[in-house]
Amino acid sequence: MTNQLLKGKKGIIFGALDEKSIAWKIAERVVEEGAQIVLTNAPVALRFGKIQKLAEICKTEVIPADATNMEDLENLITKSQELLGGKIDFVLHSIGMSLNVRKKRDYTDLNYDWMHKTLDISAISFHRVMQVLWKQDAMTEWGSILALTYIAAQRTFPDYNEMAESKSLLESFARSFGYHFGERNKVRVNTISQSPTITTAGSGVKGFDEFFDYADKMSPMGNAPGEACADYCVTLFSDLTRYVTMQNLFHDGGFSMMGMNPKLIES
Ligand SMILES: NC(=O)c1ccc[n+]([C@@H]2O[C@H](COP(=O)([O-])OP(=O)(O)OC[C@H]3O[C@@H](n4cnc5c(N)ncnc54)[C@H](O)[C@@H]3O)[C@@H](O)[C@H]2O)c1
Repeated sequence: MTNQLLKGKKGIIFGALDEKSIAWKIAERVVEEGAQIVLTNAPVALRFGKIQKLAEICKTEVIPADATNMEDLENLITKSQELLGGKIDFVLHSIGMSLNVRKKRDYTDLNYDWMHKTLDISAISFHRVMQVLWKQDAMTEWGSILALTYIAAQRTFPDYNEMAESKSLLESFARSFGYHFGERNKVRVNTISQSPTITTAGSGVKGFDEFFDYADKMSPMGNAPGEACADYCVTLFSDLTRYVTMQNLFHDGGFSMMGMNPKLIES
């Protein structure tokens, strides 16, 4: 179903690696709704991922950018405006990576060089992207910037490890930069806190299958799938949500408000 809610809008989508990526589903959905987009990912992901295939589907180009590299980001934002023919209406940050998680380090035995990298890739990159957009004055009035996050920012999920702190920082950047962007040109900045979703980054977390099932049973509606997250993003990029800003918005089938679900005991 398409309502052309994003007709004439121009966007940048970070983080589509393969068909499972949440950003992949969002890219397809926003194009269906009439948006014109540029895709971007880290140079290494361009070699190993399938983003060129997505570019063909979305009839667009991929501009490589390591989200921790300011020159890459400056080039990306400049070239995107050239390619799309004007300022940017929406940006999706869908980036996460932790070496400590990947290498299965316990939370009580973390490598701090890796932690710095985790925070830079998964959280500070969001500030970097917004700072480049700000300095190039690249956002249109009433534009919308979104990042994806997880409830481990507020509650303890031990296996989520240092990604919990990354997500807390990410959500804080949305609030702080949301103030500046709101004041200057009514651009909104929000985070969507998504249910566990089976993707490359998601499945890398120890015990992912268990907490996917746990969340699925705890949520009255079950886990929200990536496709539904894409629908939600469309509304937040559209003109129908212009005064929603500086929020962390749960998209989780009700999980975040549950105390206990009898379904968990019955099974
Ligand atoms: N999968 C889940 O269960 C879940 C739940 C809530 C939130 N999220 C969040 O959704 C977002 C997308 O993750 P996903 O689950 O779709 O997994 P994914 O592995 O498909 O996406 C992660 C992306 O980050 C990119 N990336 C890593 N390092 C980068 C860098 N230096 N520069 C630019 N890009 C870089 C990867 O190439 C990849 O495309 C992440 O922020 C993740 O934390 C995921």
